[in-house]
Amino acid sequence: MATNSRGQFNSRLGFVLAAAGSAVGLGNIWKFPFEVGAGGGAAFVLIYLAFCFLLCFPVMISEIAIGRKTQLNAVGAFKKLGHHNWAWIGLLGILAGVFILSFYNVVAGWAFGYFLQMVQGNFEIGQNFGSYISKWESIGLYGLVFMGVTSVIVSKGIQGGIERAAKILMPSLFVLIIGLMLYAFTLDGAMDGIEYYLVPDFSEITGEVIYSALGQAFFSLSLGMGALITYGSYVSRKQDIVRSAAMITLTDVSVAFLAGMMIFPFVFSSGIEPNGGAGLIFATLPGVFEGLGPILGIVIGATFFLLLSFAALTSTVSLLEVPVAYLVDEKKIKRPVAVWGMATLIFLLGLPSLLGNGAVEQLTSFMTLYRDGQEQMISFMDFVELIASDTFLPLGGTVIAIFTAYVWKKNNLNAELMEGRETDSKWMMSYINFAVMFFCPIILGAITIITILERFFGIQVF
Ligand code: PFF
Repeated sequence: MATNSRGQFNSRLGFVLAAAGSAVGLGNIWKFPFEVGAGGGAAFVLIYLAFCFLLCFPVMISEIAIGRKTQLNAVGAFKKLGHHNWAWIGLLGILAGVFILSFYNVVAGWAFGYFLQMVQGNFEIGQNFGSYISKWESIGLYGLVFMGVTSVIVSKGIQGGIERAAKILMPSLFVLIIGLMLYAFTLDGAMDGIEYYLVPDFSEITGEVIYSALGQAFFSLSLGMGALITYGSYVSRKQDIVRSAAMITLTDVSVAFLAGMMIFPFVFSSGIEPNGGAGLIFATLPGVFEGLGPILGIVIGATFFLLLSFAALTSTVSLLEVPVAYLVDEKKIKRPVAVWGMATLIFLLGLPSLLGNGAVEQLTSFMTLYRDGQEQMISFMDFVELIASDTFLPLGGTVIAIFTAYVWKKNNLNAELMEGRETDSKWMMSYINFAVMFFCPIILGAITIITILERFFGIQVF
């Protein structure tokens, strides 16, 4: 894509796949299962699903519409539809994206490193996950490679890189997860896993479960930070935004849901604790692959972690695209300079997250925050995740809904959504209007404020 002319996705499938590529990533396959484990199982899943469809879907539609209307980056879009005073919403998003990418890249390094371990048939790595992630030199190197590949793709622009990669790799990952899920069902103890995952125990629902489910919904759908405003700016006016958003949401939620259906039978049949935290899939899966036998284990294990790395790559590409589009559009910086400059900065910002997994004690036990009223020691990486993903994204979603309904105004939103609309069903439009005007600002806003009070100040609202 030339720096002075905006690229455009070739087809609806191109946009949907690229946006779904952004949405589907480590969030679905690594983060979702351990958040379910930390949240007590099925009750978390239920709340997460409700948030995705009821609260996040209308925000997604608003983001894409704002992007397509303005043909601008996250900051420029708010300035154009509102006023200079609204640029801060975009800046908040860019900040969230920069911090998310800083730790996301570290976890992508874990996944890529696991691919290399699987190729060598090192199935014991699952039991040594803790010491594996504390080796900052090797993980740092993988992270560096990952950030480098991301930068090459982003500097080539929208059609050349993102679209082509997404078209091939996403469906392959989907098929592999389904295959592994069917295999998981055949193992001893599988049913306990399914029960844990699907039969809700409502006594497990605490404030913390609600906040993490909301943060997870935003993170997983790539919402609240302008990623979909930026991608929306490359969408043709002939496309049906509502339908595209529905396809993106359904794809993302299905992958997360199936990843859970795959992992919990494995977790229960291996006798691992489901609430083991960030290492859940990394501790569980190598043993499962080993059980497939030496040759098949290596083939399936290596393929799985390679595809997981690619899923992470289509997400890191979208995370980097947000600040880059801002620098290119607003600051008139040449795309390659913006890409490599930002990538370097973000990699450096990720160093404390890299070192905070055992290598440096002060970063591993970084600070105390509150969880359901109890003090809890967290690592630097947990801290960044809590601020950027669980707080900034829902906050961004709230202000995006308020902006859409009351600054840009609902009639303008509706006019934009009608362009390219393929059906004239009214109920969907009515729900979107209701959600953007009332439901999202009130419910989303309230949960976001309560999250901040409880997590950071220990003030128990419920
Ligand atoms: N949705 C991605 C995932 O679930 O892995 C993470 C992500 C990508 C979040 C892009 C935010 C974003 F803008």
